[in-house]
Amino acid sequence: MLEERLSRITQVVTDPAVMAGYCTDFTGRWRGRAPLVALPSSTAEVAEVIRVCAGEGVPVVPQGGNTGLVGGGVPVGGEVVLSLRRLTALGPVDSSAQQVTAGAGVVLAALQRHVRAAGLDFGVDFAARDGATVGGMIATNAGGERVLRYGTTRANVVGVEAVLADGSVVSRLGGLPKDNTGFELPFTASEGTLGVITAARLRLVPLLEHRATALLGLPGVPAALAALAVLRTLDSLEMAEFFLPAGLRLVREHTGLPAPTRTEHAVYLLVECAAPRDPAPELHALLETLDVPEIVVAADTADRHRLWRYREAHTEAINTRGVPVKLDVALPLGELPSFLEELPALAGDAELYLFGHLAEGNLHVNLVGGRDATEPVLRRVARAGGSISAEHGVGRAKTPWLHLSRSPAELAALRAVKHALDPAGLLNPGVLVP
Ligand code: MLT
Ligand code: ZN
Repeated sequence: MLEERLSRITQVVTDPAVMAGYCTDFTGRWRGRAPLVALPSSTAEVAEVIRVCAGEGVPVVPQGGNTGLVGGGVPVGGEVVLSLRRLTALGPVDSSAQQVTAGAGVVLAALQRHVRAAGLDFGVDFAARDGATVGGMIATNAGGERVLRYGTTRANVVGVEAVLADGSVVSRLGGLPKDNTGFELPFTASEGTLGVITAARLRLVPLLEHRATALLGLPGVPAALAALAVLRTLDSLEMAEFFLPAGLRLVREHTGLPAPTRTEHAVYLLVECAAPRDPAPELHALLETLDVPEIVVAADTADRHRLWRYREAHTEAINTRGVPVKLDVALPLGELPSFLEELPALAGDAELYLFGHLAEGNLHVNLVGGRDATEPVLRRVARAGGSISAEHGVGRAKTPWLHLSRSPAELAALRAVKHALDPAGLLNPGVLVP
């Protein structure tokens, strides 16, 4: 019996009350059921679990912090959940190489604390930092709020260790920045379909302790893009996030925060600079040259965190309105104004909440209630040369529309790689390349 065999290898959970947390996603949109949750504490245990499941023909859903938003980590087809949460080893920070090795289950906030204590930082950061894990971040190529400066997770990973579908282990944790002994196995953005990531060698960046943050109230998206173009001349610019009045109202109801500005504006742009020396003088001087109706500058760290809360609390505030359809799209910046003008008509009778990462043209289109407008919105994105999934991944949610962003030749190549590494379809069936 599967449970008995796995119990001999590792920790296994079968209590439905405990399993519920592993079988439902954060939004409540994706729910599944699993025969059991396996919680290995080492790569060797992961490999054993995979071998047993492969032998019994039982498919597996690898899961990190379960903060995903596209159903990529939920056992919708009754799979075994393979939780990597117990792989929490964190190696010593190598200050000369600016690298660290982290287990797949290390939570982003724990990684940040660890490397910041050594005067370094991790280049990727986002609102779900207290739950998202290193393995999940690599499996989804997480983006977030600092892509402008440091790129997506892909750019911040030197090497990965993973267990393949046959139980063999591939490990590239040596940390050599130069190593052209063949191509990388494509675990980044593979969403658990090609192997189970168990650890990673991560690239670190200098810890920039001096920060300056400002919230700009603007009359529209073209004005926000114009301001961004000027702000980008600052080397210290690290983040440029936007939100709209409808989302801000929800956030204020949810958090009890006061209005951030004297009057309401059509678009809010939250920017942050970080540098080895205080970047406030250069940011403030540049802001004075802009023709912006209202600018609020953070006075201290608590004030910075308050301004960030207006942006970062959007996800939880939107959840209070119901189960959202989350469309995470990216468009060329020049296409944003016309797309945003058309969006309310495309959304139909659904409540529309919009926020995101302006510098990458990455919009989080959240639709609550009404008729599902996924199809028209994603088709419009594709017509504009955009991506139907900028940072959340494809998961189960976007598979029917993947062809809008990927050509038939690309889809065939993705399937060929999947088939070569997982011929029996053991790993995360139904996700990314069904
Ligand atoms: C964010 O930018 O806060 C995340 O992508 C979460 C979300 O889209 O809800
Ligand atoms: Zn985001």
